[in-house]
Amino acid sequence: MKCVKVPLKQLNDTRIKLMENGLMNMEYRIKAQDDFGYIPINDDVGEYEIVDIELEPLKRVPHNFAELLKDELSLEEIENLRTSFDTIGDIVILEIPRDLQDKKQIIGDAAFKFTKRRSIFMKKSAVKGTIRIRDLEFLSGVDDSVTIHKEHGARLKLDVREVYFSPRLATERKRVMESVNEGEKILDMFCGIGPFPIVIAREKDVEITAVDINESAIKYLDENIRLNKLKGQIKTYCGDARKVSDEFKTKYDRIIMNLPGLAYTFLDVAVNLIEDNGIINYYEFSNSYEQGIKRLNDAASAVGKEVEIINCRKVKSTSPGEWHVAIDGKIN
Ligand SMILES: C[S@@+](CC[C@H](N)C(=O)[O-])C[C@H]1O[C@@H](n2cnc3c(N)ncnc32)[C@H](O)[C@@H]1O
Repeated sequence: MKCVKVPLKQLNDTRIKLMENGLMNMEYRIKAQDDFGYIPINDDVGEYEIVDIELEPLKRVPHNFAELLKDELSLEEIENLRTSFDTIGDIVILEIPRDLQDKKQIIGDAAFKFTKRRSIFMKKSAVKGTIRIRDLEFLSGVDDSVTIHKEHGARLKLDVREVYFSPRLATERKRVMESVNEGEKILDMFCGIGPFPIVIAREKDVEITAVDINESAIKYLDENIRLNKLKGQIKTYCGDARKVSDEFKTKYDRIIMNLPGLAYTFLDVAVNLIEDNGIINYYEFSNSYEQGIKRLNDAASAVGKEVEIINCRKVKSTSPGEWHVAIDGKIN
């Protein structure tokens, strides 16, 4: 997690300043250690020392939400609820622990009242299968799983039942967008509904090729291209990235590989399609960066290329000790 590092006596003033400027990442707990304070941030902040360290995610219990449930659940049960909901457009997706399943309706109704969003769904499974979607159960409000999510000014239409989308990757997408140069040719091998392509092409005059195996994801990406005013161009392809990319006659300045469980099995395709000095934004689930760096190095050296690691970061925690990690490698 990217943090501002300050001497402890400056911690409070810095925290307030960052918060006032909307730069503090409110999802993580501030850490104090060895005379220094570490404040999580969303964006680079020029005037401070920036470091990358692990911080504990904040579990927030919205006060009013607890109030709404106080007659039905014990305080401990409320504490146990995953209360940092995933809000996607006007839909809220809740994770309700197994021991509170018999209260799911009460919890769903409270979430509906508290959030004032249109529809409340509950996670029924982990994200699974090739197209990376999860089972959802409708709980409260209107049973409609299509919505438009706003992210960094982009409008992203999707059906939460049919496609993968995580609002928790917003900071990562902005970071990648900011590192893109004008005029780049970009391949997003696993684009989903296109949050990387849309967020990038809104800001940069680039040419993006976007591939996904899920027909519904490509249908929504095509709609999202129409919904947003783009400086760049996006071409979409539906199919397996390995097969579809056989048709591509061009090389790319950047390849985005956000299929963290399996992206490594496509690295041989990516190292062949990358331009000299191009960047691979590679993602995987791991407890360290070493495995991903080795995979990138192995794939590049198999075709006589070398990797210069530009940046590594933890995007989000997936389970205790495991992270969705990002590794940016320049391929020479
Ligand atoms: C984790 S999601 C990421 C989607 C998008 N990049 C985002 O950040 O929201 C991975 C996507 O890869 C797609 N996918 C899985 N296997 C694929 C393959 N062999 N070729 C192309 N797309 C694939 C899934 O349908 C899913 O939309």
